[in-house]
Amino acid sequence: MFLDKLKKLKSYKTETTPCKVKLSSNENPFDLPEELKEKIAEEIKKIPFQRYPDPNVSELREILANLYNVKESNLVFGNGSDELIQLLIMTIGNIKNPVAYPIPTFPMYQVSSDTIGREKVEFQLDENFDLQKNEIDKALEKSPDLVFYASPNNPTGNSFNRELIKYTADNNVFVVVDEAYIDFSDKESFLDEALNRDNLVILRTMSKIGLASIRLGVLIAKEEVATEINKGRLPFNITYPTQIIAKVVLTEGLPVIKEQIEILKKEREKLINELKNFDGIKVYPSDANFILIKTPNGDLVHKKLIEKGVLVRNMSHIPKMENCLRVSIGKPEENEIFLEALKKVLEENF
Ligand SMILES: Cc1ncc(COP(=O)(O)O)c(C=O)c1O
Repeated sequence: MFLDKLKKLKSYKTETTPCKVKLSSNENPFDLPEELKEKIAEEIKKIPFQRYPDPNVSELREILANLYNVKESNLVFGNGSDELIQLLIMTIGNIKNPVAYPIPTFPMYQVSSDTIGREKVEFQLDENFDLQKNEIDKALEKSPDLVFYASPNNPTGNSFNRELIKYTADNNVFVVVDEAYIDFSDKESFLDEALNRDNLVILRTMSKIGLASIRLGVLIAKEEVATEINKGRLPFNITYPTQIIAKVVLTEGLPVIKEQIEILKKEREKLINELKNFDGIKVYPSDANFILIKTPNGDLVHKKLIEKGVLVRNMSHIPKMENCLRVSIGKPEENEIFLEALKKVLEENF
């Protein structure tokens, strides 16, 4: 009986089939340069492994505050932004009041709400996967305390209507704008809003720009808000190695990362243009490091791509995502392999 609640939960699912070309997790496909890895190895050697890490993440905090042009007190750190999502669901508002988010979106808002036992209000996006005022109004009638907007959204790739995000925040709810993919977008961030409002915060992550392995997420909020949220954070959630690696990469590796992001943005446009010429494929616009495509048969195309050594994310079983696949932008040569494989799958099966 103690496990009854857990038995009803579904855990976060990810694609794990080993494949030559992995385009399934929205990672940066480029590894760090060898010289940077050498530097990291040297710094890691200096860690006193018997000691706890700095609970205040002080040195990294200074680096990130400079990078985002905010005060150190505006930042709260998480073991990935996943942990910050969980922290917000645990701490913001009354646990008896629901968490709301538009669907389809990043599944962790649902997974963490269910784990914590908080009600959910899921509302619909329009046919272009954008927010709709009437759906927001209907959701607000159910009195949520907390609303999550992933913008750019995963798995759809588009950014949401800014005015409707602000409209939501004007309605006495706490709004989280999850900007996991903002580095790939030319749209404006909600950073300024976060620094000026008591009820809006943004989330950022190092995972999509090349450091998925170290698990580092950042919440940016007004000082008074960040201070309160920080009280719920576990004391040593950012490991010593994570702090060291992020420090090295965010000081010495930034030009490389910026270059990689530019390559990926160009590759995204190239992929979108190529796919527009594929019969039977609909490609959606994207501000992220992945694209969403609609195929004649999602399950079959997904399976046949795996047989050809290419792993993408099958979204077919999610409502409104029938026959859709999410394809992370890879290295130029990986994208070529994907295009070739998809062309063959379409020729051979449809
Ligand atoms: C919208 C969104 N938010 C948050 C995350 C989680 O990122 P992290 O690796 O920092 O936990 C993801 C990862 O896919 C995501 O798509």
